[in-house]
Amino acid sequence: MKIVIPGGTGQVGTVLKRAFNAGGHDVVVLSRRPRHPGEVHWDGATMGDWAGEIDGSDIVVNLAGRSVNCRYTPANLREMMDSRVHSARVVGEAIAVAARPPRIWLQMSTATVYAHRFDAPNDEATGVIGGTEPDAPGYWSYSVDIAKAWERAQETADTPHTRKVALRAAMVMSPDPGGVLDVLLRLARLGLGGPVAGGAQYVSWIHDHDFVRAVEFLVARDDITGAVNLAAPGPLPHRAFMRALRTAWGVPVGLPATRWMAEAGAFVLRSDTELLLKSRRVVPGRLLDAGFTFDHTDWPGAADDLVRRLRAAR
Ligand SMILES: NC(=O)c1ccc[n+]([C@@H]2O[C@H](COP(=O)([O-])OP(=O)(O)OC[C@H]3O[C@@H](n4cnc5c(N)ncnc54)[C@H](OP(=O)(O)O)[C@@H]3O)[C@@H](O)[C@H]2O)c1
Repeated sequence: MKIVIPGGTGQVGTVLKRAFNAGGHDVVVLSRRPRHPGEVHWDGATMGDWAGEIDGSDIVVNLAGRSVNCRYTPANLREMMDSRVHSARVVGEAIAVAARPPRIWLQMSTATVYAHRFDAPNDEATGVIGGTEPDAPGYWSYSVDIAKAWERAQETADTPHTRKVALRAAMVMSPDPGGVLDVLLRLARLGLGGPVAGGAQYVSWIHDHDFVRAVEFLVARDDITGAVNLAAPGPLPHRAFMRALRTAWGVPVGLPATRWMAEAGAFVLRSDTELLLKSRRVVPGRLLDAGFTFDHTDWPGAADDLVRRLRAAR
């Protein structure tokens, strides 16, 4: 198959490209700064010659979007929104005008669309969409607005011959340098892998192997459209999540951090505490209902596997 991955130069793109290439598929990545064979230029916002790659392709997986690992300044929030909505819209336009449109368009979304909550897990049918939680800082609603606008850009695209699926993905844990796991392990090695702000907030995650398998499953299942949660069935509190990660790496202690310490740390690291403090309790309702089985259901086992691979790669 020919698979086009707009925004495929980042962590998730690396995971998918590796798997698709191993499966013998032809992968084209759309990038604003193509550097490697198989990468084609686009600007993420307007039509261009790149659309010719989508015409005649089998699968499009759009991952483009400004990294959310930044200070949530008005300018950065605007860029986070625009880069996602504009890229999804123009991918839809390219599919709409294609003489031979792809049979499926997987559009990245995020598990962050759901409410900050502790009481119950969010699946696609009964989950609560975020934005109005009384116990969350007001500015967190902007991330939910981004996710909703991102999904809407796909929903409203006029692509009648292409099945559309929005991937509400949790943190994709892979052993790649610069990925989420790499960053968390660096903190843990510095002794900073303790609970933050009490550590009761839930962490949703998915092992990279299951992420790839879930994408392949969604490609194969012609009956599935719309939003699908890509998260392991066992989200767990941040405190337990970090403890398992420390155990996997062999770090005996992790200093706990208060909310204000996390604020200070996030300022220094040019990041935002929403990424740490929002309780993301997301479960894969539709995948499980459709018969998908996860190879990595519990975080301690997944963390052991990821750490083993990370060490082997060094
Ligand atoms: N990593 C996760 O665990 C996770 C979980 C849930 C959702 N997501 C979402 O999935 C997508 C991919 O994640 P990732 O971790 O691979 O992200 P990433 O490493 O930041 O890569 C995203 C890619 O988007 C492109 N991009 C950045 N700014 C852009 C802009 N202003 N306009 C157009 N393209 C831009 C970049 O490609 P070029 O510079 O080559 O153009 C970049 O390589 C992101 O949208 C992310 O929010 C990720």
